[in-house]
Amino acid sequence: MTEASFPAVRLRRLRQSPAWRRLTREVRVRPEQLVLPLFVREGASAPLPIGSMPGVVQHTLDSLRAEIARAAAAGIGGVMLFGVPEHKDAVGSGATDPEGILNAATRIAREEAGDALVVQTDLCLDEFTDHGHCGVLDARGGVDNDATLERYRDMAIAQAEAGSQLLGLSGMMDGQVAACRAALDDAGHAEVALLAYAAKYASAFYGPFREAVQSSLEGDRRTYQLDPANRREGAREAALDIAEGADIVMVKPAMSYLDVLADTAATSPVPVWAYQVSGEYSMIEAAAAHGWIDRERAVDESITGIVRAGADAVLTYWAVEAAERWAR
Ligand code: PBG
Repeated sequence: MTEASFPAVRLRRLRQSPAWRRLTREVRVRPEQLVLPLFVREGASAPLPIGSMPGVVQHTLDSLRAEIARAAAAGIGGVMLFGVPEHKDAVGSGATDPEGILNAATRIAREEAGDALVVQTDLCLDEFTDHGHCGVLDARGGVDNDATLERYRDMAIAQAEAGSQLLGLSGMMDGQVAACRAALDDAGHAEVALLAYAAKYASAFYGPFREAVQSSLEGDRRTYQLDPANRREGAREAALDIAEGADIVMVKPAMSYLDVLADTAATSPVPVWAYQVSGEYSMIEAAAAHGWIDRERAVDESITGIVRAGADAVLTYWAVEAAERWAR
């Protein structure tokens, strides 16, 4: 009997040189798979830096225009707009006001973007309510699901009329996809698509975002966002949103939920996106600022990992930077 000689398999053969590695790479991330979230602040006269997200700002309408032009030139797939209103109230009136900051920003974004990229808007009340919840409250201070759906319907129509092409339903109310689809269709906006934040977890990684939108929230969102421990429930949310008519489903955050993302991608008949959220951004930026990690490699590795797990597109605050760097 001859002894088996190991290593019999030489996996290192394909890793010998940059040329070999490039040729045999399994996943390639392209600029058009990236979507840039943008914050637009009402009444701002100059872009305002967000302390917990170095490099990210609250835009004025003018600086938004410039950033959209840059995003289009970089060849990214789209932008996702968030509004930061000057005044908030219990029902988030600013969200449905045609002159409200998000709707005003949407019109400008469409004008500037033309057909170069897809203009998307966050459809949620938390930036607009004085209590900071994603919906309206009932008499006991809980978030009233069905009363909130009425607000979302009006918001969907207002955003469609402002020119949004894809509405990001991030509020995690039951039935929000069906409600918004019906409202849009009834109002003659069948062309407007819905991105359902199907599996959105109650995450600590949204921390810096709350500064970015100057959230008034006290307490948490655990009665509507998913428990971080629940994998099956994420798949169930996605399946239900698809049944309700979602054109695209999203998993959020990304890096701590790659299993949910892979599950969803394995069975979804619609595109599956992931949102690399504010805290994921800030962690890498902070570590890099300390010199503890190689910033650009960490950015690229994190985005690649999200795509490898199954995301067809990624919302990331590095979208334009990465796209510009990859082009060099
Ligand atoms: C809700 C919304 C949130 C984010 C996007 N949409 C915050 C939340 O649910 O508390 C978080 C995005 C991020 O952290 O980058 N409108």
